[in-house]
Amino acid sequence: MDVFQNTNLGLISSNSSSLIQPIMQGFTSLFLFGGFAFQTILGLPGVRRDGAIVKRAVDDFISTEEPIALAQLLANIGSSGANAPGVSSGIVVASPSTDNPDYFYTWTRDAALVFRAIVDRFANSYDADLQTEIQNYIIAQAKLQTVSNPSGSLSDGTGLAEPKFNVDASAFTGSWGRPQRDGPALRAIALSGYAEWLLANGYNSTANDVVWPIIRNDLAYVTQYWNQTGFDLWEEVSGSSFFTIAASHRSLVEGSALAKSLGASTTDYDAVAPQILCFLQSFWSSSSGYALANINVNNGRSAKDANVLLSSIHNFDPALSCDAATFQPCSDRALSSHKVVVDSFRDIYTINSGIAAGSAVAVGRYPEDTYYNGNPWYLNTLAAAELLYDALYVWQTEGSITVTATSLPFFQDFSSGVAAGTYKSDSDTYTTLYNAVYGYADGFVDIVSKYVASNGSLAEQYSRDDGTPLSARDLTWSYASFLTAAARRAGVVPAGWAGAGSTATVVPSACAATSVAGSYSAATATAFPASQTPVTSSAPTSTFTRPTITVTSPGSSSTSNCATATSVAVTFNELKTTTYGQTVKVVGNVAALGNWDTSKAVALSASSYTSNNPLWKATITLPAGQAIQYKYIVVNTDGSITWESDPNRSYSVPKSCSTTSTKTDTWR
Ligand code: NOJ
Ligand code: NOJ
Repeated sequence: MDVFQNTNLGLISSNSSSLIQPIMQGFTSLFLFGGFAFQTILGLPGVRRDGAIVKRAVDDFISTEEPIALAQLLANIGSSGANAPGVSSGIVVASPSTDNPDYFYTWTRDAALVFRAIVDRFANSYDADLQTEIQNYIIAQAKLQTVSNPSGSLSDGTGLAEPKFNVDASAFTGSWGRPQRDGPALRAIALSGYAEWLLANGYNSTANDVVWPIIRNDLAYVTQYWNQTGFDLWEEVSGSSFFTIAASHRSLVEGSALAKSLGASTTDYDAVAPQILCFLQSFWSSSSGYALANINVNNGRSAKDANVLLSSIHNFDPALSCDAATFQPCSDRALSSHKVVVDSFRDIYTINSGIAAGSAVAVGRYPEDTYYNGNPWYLNTLAAAELLYDALYVWQTEGSITVTATSLPFFQDFSSGVAAGTYKSDSDTYTTLYNAVYGYADGFVDIVSKYVASNGSLAEQYSRDDGTPLSARDLTWSYASFLTAAARRAGVVPAGWAGAGSTATVVPSACAATSVAGSYSAATATAFPASQTPVTSSAPTSTFTRPTITVTSPGSSSTSNCATATSVAVTFNELKTTTYGQTVKVVGNVAALGNWDTSKAVALSASSYTSNNPLWKATITLPAGQAIQYKYIVVNTDGSITWESDPNRSYSVPKSCSTTSTKTDTWR
C-alpha cells in the first residue's frame, strides 16, 4: 500500500483552502489518517553493550561514517553531484529517491539545514571545494526566491514560504502542505553563517552586495508573517510549530546583528524578535515538563515530538549557557523535553523493547506517526545525541552542572539520588552525571551505527520492527545530522548567533503580535568574486576540552591495590629542528599551559637536542584525567611566534596509579 498517496495527498488537498489563518483566531484542524498496513516483522531487541564498548564502537563508527556522510551529502547537490543528475547548480535534492517516496525535489528546509552544517564546517576549517558549494547554494537561493509558486510570489513575500521546488528550480505545483514558514528563517540563518565568515575575513562588499539582499528578503518574510499559522516541519500539521517559531526568533536576532555590521537598519528585527521569543514561551508546558510541538491546532496528538530536540540543537549558542527562554540544549526545559520525547518511543518500537529510561533508544518524529507505519528516523536519533553533546560542552566549559526541579527527572535516570543543585566539575556528582550523559549520548549514535546500512548510507527511517533502512534512501538531511552530531561530540561547536551582551534571551513581560509589512526585491548580484580565501590566522580555533570518559565496566570493579594518582608529571617531547636563538614552547587551554596566552607558554629545554634527534622537552604537572588541547610554538630571535599548523593537539592525562607520563610529538 502506498501510504504517501493514500493518506497525504488527499488530506492536504482537502484542507488546502484554509491553510493561512491568523493565530489569534484559534484556528484548529483535525487531521485523520487513513488506515495503513501494519508490518509484523519481529526483530530481536538489540544486544546491550557496556559503556566502554559503546564508546569504542562509536569512535570507530564515526571515523568510518564521516567521510561517507560528507561524500553522500555532496553527491545530492547539483549540478555535479553523482546522485543529482539533471539538478541545477546549488540545488540540494532531499534524496535521490524518485519513487516511494519521490524526494527528488528541493525543500527549502532540508537545503538550509544541510548548508548550515556545511557552513559551520567550512567556517571551522577552510575548504575551497565547500566554499564553491556554498556559493552555488546561495546563488540558487537568489533564483528560487523569485520563482512564483502556489504559496505566492516575491512581490509580497508569500512565495518565500513555498516548501519545495523542482530540481530545475521551477515551481512545484502539486498539492502540498503549504506554506511552511520555517523555510525563510532557516535559509536566512544558513546564509547569515556565510555572511559572517565573509565579514570576519574582510569581504564586506561580497557579504553586502551578494548575500545580504537574499537574507533581507527572508528576514522581511519572518518579520511580516511569523504570527500566521502554517504547516510544521513534518508537513502535516497546520498551526503554530515550536520549531518554526524558534527558527524565526533566531533568524531575526542573528539577522539584526548582521544588519548592524553592514550598516543596515535593525529597527524592524529588533521590534519583532522579542515578541517571537515571547510567543515561544507559550509552547512550554510546565505541568507536563516538555515543550509542545504544535499549538493552535487540535490534532489529537500528545505534542511530544522530536521537533523540540531539533529546535534546541539548531538554536544552540554556546555563549547562551543553559538559557531556558531559548531552550538551549543544557537548559532544564530542553533536558526535560528530551526525556519526555525519547521516552515516548520506548514502548512503541519493537527495536526499543526492554531498554530502560537512561539508555538510548531509536527516536522517531512523534509517537503517533504513521508515515511508512511510523518509524525511527536517523536524523532524530542523532539529534537526541547532539543535544546532549551540546549540553556536555557547556557544562565542561562552565565547570558545573545545574540540576533544577524541572530537569530532576532527566538526571535521576543517571543517578537516582541526585538532588537539585549546582555541581562543580571537581565533585563526584559532576563526574557521575557528566560521564553518564556522555555515555547516554553515545548510545544514540551507537543505535544509528547498529541500524545503518552496511555501506554506511543513511536513509530517512529505519524499521521500528527490525531496524531495516526504510523510506527515502540517502537522505541529505540524515547525512547533515550525522556530521553535526559528530562535530559536537568532538567539541567543535558552531559560532553563536545571539551576540555578546545581547538581549536575545530577554522575554517581554506581555506578548504582542507585532509584525511589520516588508518590501521584497530580487537579489541581482549573483556571482561571487574568485579566490576569497581566509585571512591567515594561526590562533587556535577551539579551546574546548572534552574529558575522556572513564568507564568501569559493570562487574569488573577495580582490582588493583595502588592509589590512583591525582596529578601526573607529563613530559612533553617535541621533535623540532631549530636554528640558533629559537626556542620551542608549549601552550594550551589550561592554566598550566598558559591558557593559550603565548607569553605564558612553557619553555622546553634543548638539553638533549642533537642534530639527529632534535628533541625539546619539558615536564609539566597536570591533574590526572584532565583532557587538554595544546600546540607547540617556536619563539624566534626577534620575539615573533610561529605556530604549529591546525588542528590543536589533544591529550588526556592518564588517570591511573602512575604519577608520570610521556607525550612525544613531532612538529607540524
Ligand atoms: C510527505 C511528507 O513529507 C511527510 O512529512 C508526511 O509525513 C507524509 N507526506 C504523510 O503526510
Ligand atoms: C518529509 C519530512 O517530514 C520533511 O521534514 C522533509 O522536509 C521532507 N520529507 C523532505 O526530506
